[in-house]
Amino acid sequence: MHTLPPGPRGVPLLGMLPAIRRDPIGVFTNAARRFGDIVYFKIGPRRGYLVSDPDAIRHVLQDNARNYHKSPLYDKLRLVIGNGLLTSEDAFWLRQRRIAQPAFHRQRIAALSDTMADAARLAADKWDALASTGRPVDIDDEMMRLTRTVVLRTLLGSDLGPFTSTIDEAWAVVNQYIGESFWSLGFADNLPTPRHRRFLAARRVLRGAVDYVISDRRRTGADNADLLAMLMSAHDEDTGDTMTDDQLQVEVMTFLLAGQETTSLALTWTWYLLSQHPGAREKLERELDSVLGGRPPVYSDIANLPYLRMVVDESLRLYPPAWGFSRQAMADDELGGFRLPRGWLAFIIPYELHRHPKFWDRPEAFDPERFSPERSVDRPKFAYLPFGAGPRRCIGDQFALIETHLTLATFAQRYRLELAKGHSVDPWPLITLRPRLGMPMLVERR
Ligand code: HEM
Repeated sequence: MHTLPPGPRGVPLLGMLPAIRRDPIGVFTNAARRFGDIVYFKIGPRRGYLVSDPDAIRHVLQDNARNYHKSPLYDKLRLVIGNGLLTSEDAFWLRQRRIAQPAFHRQRIAALSDTMADAARLAADKWDALASTGRPVDIDDEMMRLTRTVVLRTLLGSDLGPFTSTIDEAWAVVNQYIGESFWSLGFADNLPTPRHRRFLAARRVLRGAVDYVISDRRRTGADNADLLAMLMSAHDEDTGDTMTDDQLQVEVMTFLLAGQETTSLALTWTWYLLSQHPGAREKLERELDSVLGGRPPVYSDIANLPYLRMVVDESLRLYPPAWGFSRQAMADDELGGFRLPRGWLAFIIPYELHRHPKFWDRPEAFDPERFSPERSVDRPKFAYLPFGAGPRRCIGDQFALIETHLTLATFAQRYRLELAKGHSVDPWPLITLRPRLGMPMLVERR
């Protein structure tokens, strides 16, 4: 019990910090393959274990979740979002989760699905013009715009007014800043460098956009029954207080960012995979044609589109937008036969886990049918974690899946996307897994 698990040694003092800064996914994946299920890491002043054993992951995320807080790496995210549903802990987190949860019941999301499908259809209508130019389209930007529109319309009942044109750039700056400083030691974070100033300016744009959404609702007094209404009317059971303006801003920011970014990346990576696997794409097209016969998809069609669902599951396996997350032990614990001391971290890296040869045959291959019920029976549940697990599991998982299914069905019914010639695709693990050089694709009408 008192020996450390095996692990890579790294360099004196900093341990694996320099290597992880350069290539976090490569370092975690190689370490798991070489050293096993529980791997010791020293990363600068922090120590912890990379956990790839499904039972140990269940222990951290679910069975003993009370003993684990989100790790200090989330402090960087808190700099932008503030302390809210995604970043807070314990009683405060539970209260925020309870306020938001009713907005995410499956039936409620089913009711929003027409808005999702409409938004996809409207965007698709514009693609005829894009297709005719013969020039590549930045699919990552297109998907980001679409998923943002959907979050705004379905959950926040608003648009971004004057911030519409600046928010994407602002979020890209913030994502890169946080992603790159994720592993920093913090000494230089607040120096007034050009990079830091750009970050502060981008954060102001995001905050301005959030203020706009809230004041727009107050001004119009719109009587929507959406997430924003729930957040604005929630009362503390004991004191009767409503959320302060600051807290409201934090939660609106949380949903605006968490809701658009990950879902748009899931779509972007799926378009990429389909373009690389024409056989799978044709199979998907055949399913869509036979089930929909050319009419636009609606929520109730999803149950009849099993191949579509498997394509999305497989895309979330190979390119999980939330590629890695981490926790900090609040008290000593035991993990996979080793003692995990208080304050140490547990790293859970879906990108690595989803390609682990112990759980997936031909792990690097794109094979949607591995998610068929017959081929899924023997797979441990905690080997596939695109949405996390346990009490902190993604609140928007159903929302994201339904939106992804409806959007893919709407576009794939009408268009084929091909990666622009000569473009190299390089996964870039910031907070989320982005394509480093974007995803330019040619749009062809089917
Ligand atoms: C494909 C799309 C999505 C993916 C891959 C994804 C992934 C995740 C993951 C892995 C977590 C847990 C992080 C951790 O345990 O540290 C999470 C939490 C969260 N997600 Fe998502 N998400 C997606 C879409 C959405 C959407 C559409 C929304 C809202 C509209 C959303 C809102 C949230 C929130 C608020 C949390 C924090 C929940 C809590 O701590 O109680 N996500 N997401």
